[in-house]
Amino acid sequence: MKRDYRQDFPLLRENPIVYLDSAATAQRPDVVIEAEMEFYKKYNANPLRGLYSLGIEATDRYEEARECVANFIHAASAKEIIFTRNATESLNLVAYSYGLSHLREGDEIVVSILEHHSNQLPWRMVAEKTGAVVKYLECDRQGHISDVDLQAAFSEKTKLVAVTQVSNVLGIKTPIDKIVALAKKSGAVVVLDAAQSTPHMEVDVQKLDVDFLAFSGHKLMAPMGIGVLYGRKELLSEMPPFLTGGEMIQTVTRDKVVYAELPHKFEAGTVNGAGAWALAAAIRYLQEVGYEHIQKQELLLTTQLMEGLTKLPYVQIQGSPDPKEHCGIVSFTIDGVHPHDVSSILDADGIAVRAGHHCAQPLMQQIDVMSTTRASMYFYNTEEDIEKLLTSVQTIRRRMGYGE
Ligand SMILES: Cc1ncc(COP(=O)(O)O)c(C=O)c1O
Repeated sequence: MKRDYRQDFPLLRENPIVYLDSAATAQRPDVVIEAEMEFYKKYNANPLRGLYSLGIEATDRYEEARECVANFIHAASAKEIIFTRNATESLNLVAYSYGLSHLREGDEIVVSILEHHSNQLPWRMVAEKTGAVVKYLECDRQGHISDVDLQAAFSEKTKLVAVTQVSNVLGIKTPIDKIVALAKKSGAVVVLDAAQSTPHMEVDVQKLDVDFLAFSGHKLMAPMGIGVLYGRKELLSEMPPFLTGGEMIQTVTRDKVVYAELPHKFEAGTVNGAGAWALAAAIRYLQEVGYEHIQKQELLLTTQLMEGLTKLPYVQIQGSPDPKEHCGIVSFTIDGVHPHDVSSILDADGIAVRAGHHCAQPLMQQIDVMSTTRASMYFYNTEEDIEKLLTSVQTIRRRMGYGE
């Protein structure tokens, strides 16, 4: 019998909502909510500080969570895992720490036009402060990056490449293997934004051969406020700290500071112990569900949704016509109706979708739309959810006063 995953999620179990905004944030299963509570009920002390038994327990849970994340993304060592608040903070850490100390006037930073603002603006800041230049890696209207686009973006001046693995607007994957190969040829480091990939596919930092990788816990069912930065040990070791303060030092005298070893050098201040512990629970839950099942269900629902929308002549699906290229994300526009109105009408029917520019305005300009409505699916969504969305979408133009 098919398992009803909705039953694992209190919000979905107890509300009739059709939740199709998992690319913004996923729902949390009981096991994650319980893990966060467990930390506060059983282990609550300030991790990495208290030398009494409870403090050591708190530290142990936090470091166990780090090991869990390291195994999840196949890092060579847990020392390469830094806990942050979210992907945005992880990307800023690399920009402020690595970017500002390594890039110089005239250096080139390749940023794909598909990027979320969180993986564009830190590099624009670095360029402004150092005199380096941001070069956009282009894509076509469907989000495909061609070999010609790749050749045009890279040069011997390329020193850093910031790219997403999956677009949060179109769901398309970037050709990461080719990007890494070109970066290596130029001697550039690769910063991979895995915010939209880790919830949906196996991510192996060693196989990908990237230098940095960022993701947010909340998109893979962990609590908000816990994120991850992976960095190669050789690079992290010689990078200056991003934030300074408590717990990121070995010794401080009046005239000298010796920073802590990795990864603590990059974790200033009280850490999110409960969030890290609950992230580990989310990872274990995700692994139990399995990427194979996640991808199968997403493809089933994406195909159903795209087939249904394609039948409506006034709906334009953005991106590739192939459901396999969407990673559970379908952005669309409806002729004559603003996406904000689409979203409000769907909300009245109990359906949650995202509307707007999705923090990717340069991509919107590239694909020539102001904004879109985005339905993003996860394995807990059902064919009934998609049926309800399609039924509602068919009524929208009529409800906005059009003939059909
Ligand atoms: C591709 C991508 N990168 C980065 C982010 C930023 O994530 P957060 O807001 O959790 O920092 C998002 C969030 O939607 C995203 O989709």
